[in-house]
Amino acid sequence: MKIAVIGTGYVGLVSGTCFAEWGHDVVCVDKNADKISRINNGQLPIYEPDLDILVARNREADRLSFTCDLASAITNAQVVFIAVGTPSRVGQGDADLSFVYMAAREMAPFLAEGAVVAVKSTVPVGTGDAVEKIIASVCRRGSFSVASNPEFLREGVAIGDFLKPDRVVIGAEDGRARAVMLALYREPLGSTPLVVTDRCTAELIKYAANAFLATKITFINELADLCERVGSNVGELALGIGLDKRIGNSFLNAGPGYGGSCFPKDTLALLRIAQDYGVVLRIVEETIVANEARKRKMALKVVDAVGGDVDGQTIAVLGLTFKPDTDDMREAPAVPLIETLQRYGATVRGYDPVGNENASCVLENVALVDDPYECARDADAVVVVTEWDSIRRIDLSRLRRVMRRPVLVDLRSAFEPGAASAAGFRVSTIGQRP
Ligand code: UGA
Repeated sequence: MKIAVIGTGYVGLVSGTCFAEWGHDVVCVDKNADKISRINNGQLPIYEPDLDILVARNREADRLSFTCDLASAITNAQVVFIAVGTPSRVGQGDADLSFVYMAAREMAPFLAEGAVVAVKSTVPVGTGDAVEKIIASVCRRGSFSVASNPEFLREGVAIGDFLKPDRVVIGAEDGRARAVMLALYREPLGSTPLVVTDRCTAELIKYAANAFLATKITFINELADLCERVGSNVGELALGIGLDKRIGNSFLNAGPGYGGSCFPKDTLALLRIAQDYGVVLRIVEETIVANEARKRKMALKVVDAVGGDVDGQTIAVLGLTFKPDTDDMREAPAVPLIETLQRYGATVRGYDPVGNENASCVLENVALVDDPYECARDADAVVVVTEWDSIRRIDLSRLRRVMRRPVLVDLRSAFEPGAASAAGFRVSTIGQRP
């Protein structure tokens, strides 16, 4: 099939590349000429494991190209994906749809007869209807369809999530859109469930999924606090509840609070959608409040671990991105943690295997180093905020030797507390009695 993807951000780049991997003829479009020329020179704008290999392979096979020329990309496409950003509107919390509407308006004159426009961006209920109206007001041809096809890609494992998803959700209002979207996914995905529904339900599924997962994480985080008080172990508690298939054992890793470009933004946007319809989503509301509070509370854990005062002390933070295998610093728990420690008078050094460059744009007065042992040199405490594999593999005895004081605050259960104690550390963890 001939496919155009509008937007070469995270979703557009991964989706376009994976459709090409399935043998389709894909053109990815972006207005940013500099970005397109970098991609064409092999420099991807995001860090995502294996994406560079897939992009190169499919470009070589002539199935994948990148351009700023919207007209040429759209003219022959049977399916046009909208994969532009929907950031939170500052101070409002609802999704800013201006990029989605602009994409609809600009593609409309060039749409081929019978083309399906599929919205992959995360958008509020009713956006598909609005996109349809915009295109209808500009489109020169008679027939086109608008579908919703939300993505469920996790940064760091996005290619696996795309090529082997748990499910695909297709929201369509007419037979043609349903048939085209099914044709796109059915053959490569075999028996993977394809959930076919109406557009509004598909739009809401995406927000509901993210809000549910954010709530699940927040639930285990609050239970972790209780475990610390009563002397239970949150890892074993998660195992004990998660083996119940009705609960499920994934997304029960207690930590410093969820971050990233999706959960914080989408939970807020879901609240705004509900408010617009006069519905109160109390659980989602509380999830947002609890998660924000948790991120800041983590600094107090560090203060406690060093004996009640970080003023004048040096704290080494290992792992800065919002999770491993990404360079993304958006809403990363490391940021409020570091800012709070600095306000309390600490000097903070940071290390991330991949995220230092992005971290330098959001953190002030933090020395960012390329080596975890250098980061910890003469430090009064080390705090693990992101559980990169390379951080888990750190030699604890060596780490201990370069530090001034042997304090390890492990916010991601990256290390066995017993092993850390054996290496000479005083360990503070999540969800276990100190
Ligand atoms: C999330 C969803 O998982 C994807 O399904 C969705 O497609 C994506 O948002 C999106 O809307 O585009 P992502 O933000 O990449 O994906 O990252 P996650 O792996 O979901 O992690 C989010 C945050 O939750 C991270 O800060 C992570 O450290 C935290 N987390 C995750 C925990 O604290 N504990 C867990 O058990 C799992």
